Amino acid sequence: MKRIAVLVSGGGTNLQALIDAQNRGEIVNGRIAAVIASKPGVYALDRAGTANIPGYVMARRDYPDSRAYTIALRDKLQSLDIALVVLAGFMTILTEELVEAYPNAILNVHPALIPSFCGEGFYGLHVHERALQYGVKVSGATVHFVSRECDGGPIVLQKAVPVEEGDTPEILQRRIMEQAEWKLLPRAVSLFCQDRLRVEGRIVHILN
Ligand code: GAR
Repeated sequence: MKRIAVLVSGGGTNLQALIDAQNRGEIVNGRIAAVIASKPGVYALDRAGTANIPGYVMARRDYPDSRAYTIALRDKLQSLDIALVVLAGFMTILTEELVEAYPNAILNVHPALIPSFCGEGFYGLHVHERALQYGVKVSGATVHFVSRECDGGPIVLQKAVPVEEGDTPEILQRRIMEQAEWKLLPRAVSLFCQDRLRVEGRIVHILN
């Protein structure tokens, strides 16, 4: 059974999707062993508490810089014997030390079809604002492995979601969460835990 840590910064609806999938027996060979928040008081921690999952706060502001924060986070994850790290709406910049400790073992969910609307500055509602400004007719979500390049790691799963007339960033965000993120993330986590993801360069093969 692989021990999973979910890193969060906000509402935690993607964490909830993982908890619900786990309760349905859909996270095969994996168990959420920890939820770590980058700031205190976020609702995701309440969700962890309700599900009896240990929650930890590691506040970014308690560390002098991103590197010191990343190293502390890495040490915490290793002390908890974590095999898979999931960034589920985790809004804090991390440095290379975490990727080095967890090569192809960190998954991120991004609310767009990478390589569109990704990279620095593209997070949360901003992603949907930019997609609507650009006028795309489809957007969607991507689950990818985290590499040194921001939003640039090998893609595991993607799903397209239509943009509709009259969409606001909030409406589009919700549709992409419901139709894509909340489905893709638990599926990718379960595939990882079953050792069914094989990475060759940029390509992720999904094994039967
Ligand atoms: C989600 O839409 C997630 O894809 C996005 O933040 C939201 C978090 O919501 N992540 C990023 O933008 C990362 N670049 P949640 O806290 O309800 O899961």
